[in-house]
Amino acid sequence: MTAPGASSNYVLGSHDRERDRLQRQHAIWRDDCLAAWQQAGWGAGQRLLDLGCGPGFASLDLAERVGPTGSVLAIDNASAYLEHLQAQASQGNLQQLHTLALDLNQASGVEALGEGQWDGAWCRWVAMFLKDLNPLLDLIARALRPGGTLILHEYGQWDTFALYPRGAGLDRFVCRCIQHWRDHGGDPHVAQRLPALLEARGLRLKHCRSLMACSTSDAPKAQWLQDFLGSYPDQLAAAGLWSPGDQEELEADLGHAMGHSSVWVTPALMEMVWEKP
Ligand SMILES: C[S@@+](CC[C@H](N)C(=O)[O-])C[C@H]1O[C@@H](n2cnc3c(N)ncnc32)[C@H](O)[C@@H]1O
Repeated sequence: MTAPGASSNYVLGSHDRERDRLQRQHAIWRDDCLAAWQQAGWGAGQRLLDLGCGPGFASLDLAERVGPTGSVLAIDNASAYLEHLQAQASQGNLQQLHTLALDLNQASGVEALGEGQWDGAWCRWVAMFLKDLNPLLDLIARALRPGGTLILHEYGQWDTFALYPRGAGLDRFVCRCIQHWRDHGGDPHVAQRLPALLEARGLRLKHCRSLMACSTSDAPKAQWLQDFLGSYPDQLAAAGLWSPGDQEELEADLGHAMGHSSVWVTPALMEMVWEKP
């Protein structure tokens, strides 16, 4: 299904390299998703939305969770990602998983979701890329049934991303990423704004926790950061935001970190669980 105006100029892109990175990323964060979904009571027979689903690695898990009597609608505006997900769903015989191409920056097309018909909505690493949060938040407030739950995993402070010691090159990388996303209308500290905006739409915060991690170089959360450092400089360079000198300094930092005891700190990711009364 495609809604009007659904097309993507998403800053991270929807090419195969980024899709593969999202798959590795989901593998690292999957246990945190499963714990949140379990705590929210999401299970068999439920109707769930995956907002900004990407290639749908979480959508596939959600579809397994709700089973054949439930339904998952995975929404994104990147056609390459939706096609990938549809192929995976057919291969896994997950008939309960459907996709919808929708631009979450726009209000058009949201009527396709109906009103008060969804038990839950999952939204991870998406709000930070939107120019306008209103269409997404209005959609959620309208689509959830009374008692329905929204689970968000979004960043509250992306520039906590750090490496100690010797992280000056990494600090520059962090500043340039933030600049790149802001240049595209995004907000890498978006979770700071979400509580007031969701409360204004009548939702109530039931639970929140920090998913920020601090780890040694060989731990999965540090490897996740290293993975991003391996791919995103090329995109910054293509945008004119990263020079060979910047890359040299970053690589020197990383080389030092691999040879010494170093602490990796992730961007401050927040879990928020909201309920529609
Ligand atoms: C970092 S990926 C996260 C994907 C997925 N939620 C996950 O956790 O793996 C961000 C996703 O948001 C989608 N996105 C960004 N802007 C969007 C928009 N305006 N409308 C719909 N989807 C959008 C992108 O296409 C991409 O799939």
